[in-house]
Amino acid sequence: MATRMKLKLKTVFVLYFMVSLMGLVYALMQLGQRCDCAEHDMPKDRTISRLRGELHRFQEQIRKSEATKQPQKQPAKPTIFVITPTYARLVQKAELTRLSHTFLHVPQLHWIVVEDSPHKTPLVSDLLLKSGLTYTHLHMPTAKDRKLQEGDPSWLKPRGVEQRNEGLRWLREDRRAQPGGDNQQGVVYFADDDNTYSLQIFEEMRSTQRVSVWPVGLVGGMKYERPVIEGGKVVRFHTGWRPSRPFPMDMAGFALSLKLVLANPESCFDGDAPMGFLESSFLQGLVTMDELEPKADNCSKVLVWHTRTEKPKMKREEALQAQGLGSDRAVEV
Ligand code: UGA
Ligand code: MN
Repeated sequence: MATRMKLKLKTVFVLYFMVSLMGLVYALMQLGQRCDCAEHDMPKDRTISRLRGELHRFQEQIRKSEATKQPQKQPAKPTIFVITPTYARLVQKAELTRLSHTFLHVPQLHWIVVEDSPHKTPLVSDLLLKSGLTYTHLHMPTAKDRKLQEGDPSWLKPRGVEQRNEGLRWLREDRRAQPGGDNQQGVVYFADDDNTYSLQIFEEMRSTQRVSVWPVGLVGGMKYERPVIEGGKVVRFHTGWRPSRPFPMDMAGFALSLKLVLANPESCFDGDAPMGFLESSFLQGLVTMDELEPKADNCSKVLVWHTRTEKPKMKREEALQAQGLGSDRAVEV
């Protein structure tokens, strides 16, 4: 009896052992097997497709709001046509480099550069090409008898006259050739290559209707010259010399509307104008004092300066050249 009990217990124990062992083997076999994860992945997939849907909706919303957004109907800024006479001398590249860097900060500016030369020079051509500006390159030599000679005092003959007139001629012709109604929209400004221009002065002149005016610093032997304003009108001019001139202003102190320039196709600078009358020679007949539009806070701010660059001395260069040791001529300065 006891022996049979023992046998049964042993059988149960063996069976229990066998079943546990099989369970263990099965479990081990399952490890490392690819499982059919469809069930596990279901929530993950749902999250992904929900997020995709939301992203799509957001993209749609952005697309729709951008499509319906009215492009800000800002009227196009009138172009400022800047006419600059320039002539070859040691400081020319430095002057034009500085000027071009100022103009790069001015939106809607078209630079009309007129060389006082019988041909376009490589120095100016190259500088303009690399400038990044919208420009027109012209040339017009000053007649020999009208040109300042070495040693002449600078006031003896007017400068930049034929060049400014050539700029005006090109502008009138070019505008006529432009189709569309806005070929008359714009402002014309005469910017000598050696002056100093604040960016603000260009925004001031952009709204010119006929002729706008403002102060010029460091000119005419004065800290500044300026139109004097009373009741919003120019009543006289603050200047140290011949205030009786029709328009006793420097070239840098006024701008005109393109419309006015086009409506008066004959008006130009008079190379025979007496000293100090060059600006008057052009403005006379185009505008009256009463019509002048004061800018720069009623002409109370100096935003442009009649700076002049010192002529560099070349004594040592010449001495070295005499010994055949001068600076390399191939290096452009
Ligand atoms: C002053 C005025 O600011 C000028 O606008 C005016 O033309 C001149 O007087 C004048 O009475 O004729 P200022 O500094 O004395 O100017 O003259 P520059 O700066 O020497 O010359 C005015 C412009 O003409 C410059 O852009 C200069 O590059 C150009 N220029 C000068 C030439 O194209 N050719 C020349 O032989 C000399
Ligand atoms: Mn000058």
